[in-house]
Amino acid sequence: MPNKKLTVLDIVAMKAAGEKITVLTAYDVSIARMLDNAGIEVVLVCDSLGMVVLGYTSTVPVTMSEMLHHARAVSRGVNRALLVGDMPFMSYQTSEYEAVVNGGRFLKEAGCDAVKIEGGVEMAGVVRALVRAGIPVMGHIGLTPQTAGQLGGYKVQGKDVASARRLLAAALALEEAGAFAVVLECVPAQLAEVITRELKIPTIGIGAGVHCDGQVLVTNDLLGMFEKFVPSFVKAYANLAPQINEAFTSYRDEVKNGSYPDTEHSFTMQLPVAKILKDHGDK
Ligand code: KIV
Repeated sequence: MPNKKLTVLDIVAMKAAGEKITVLTAYDVSIARMLDNAGIEVVLVCDSLGMVVLGYTSTVPVTMSEMLHHARAVSRGVNRALLVGDMPFMSYQTSEYEAVVNGGRFLKEAGCDAVKIEGGVEMAGVVRALVRAGIPVMGHIGLTPQTAGQLGGYKVQGKDVASARRLLAAALALEEAGAFAVVLECVPAQLAEVITRELKIPTIGIGAGVHCDGQVLVTNDLLGMFEKFVPSFVKAYANLAPQINEAFTSYRDEVKNGSYPDTEHSFTMQLPVAKILKDHGDK
């Protein structure tokens, strides 16, 4: 992939070229810069922000202003990757009008290139309205965390014929409505393979096996930094939480015993201390 800024067309072309698409989440500028430098093609400012950064127990409470605040920070660190903003719960479900107004804010106010919304056939009209307004859309089906309650919790979806067919129909409806890609979350690998084969647009899997056109993970999970709950499909490529904890306790110990800051980490000056005190007394 060239070093120029990537567009949705580049992402769609990767499917045709048989090149896997890499997607990771970011919530701040420093991680965003590292993802961009590593050559990750799509950076997703996801509403998992609510759990991994803001301390909520689900994605449901996340607001538009929280998403825009973090998306703006991420956009300052991304030069090449396609930047996708996740539309939070109730920012697009209420009407096509609200969806377009809120979706537009991700592009106008936060520098995003596209938005992601959850939902299948029932969201086709919203996708169509967003795309008509010039806002590229990534769909998201399977386990949809914003409505996990309706799905009976955080469970694998599409395991029986009826629900598998529903998911295939959802993916086709999103493609037909103009989505440029579809996230498949927590679906059996065989179903993801069928959906991937049937769609012209790329599928991005998370807990959906190896046959998807691309893969996405929550970056904090990949780095071993979010210890509260780690889904079984996550592969931790680093185990940073213990290292970070060790750095914090070493800092605490060294400050308390006076070994930090040492001379190497302090500034010095030529002036004798006695002169400072004298000049001070002279005034
Ligand atoms: O909120 C999230 O983290 C997601 C995943 C697809 C990464 O939606």
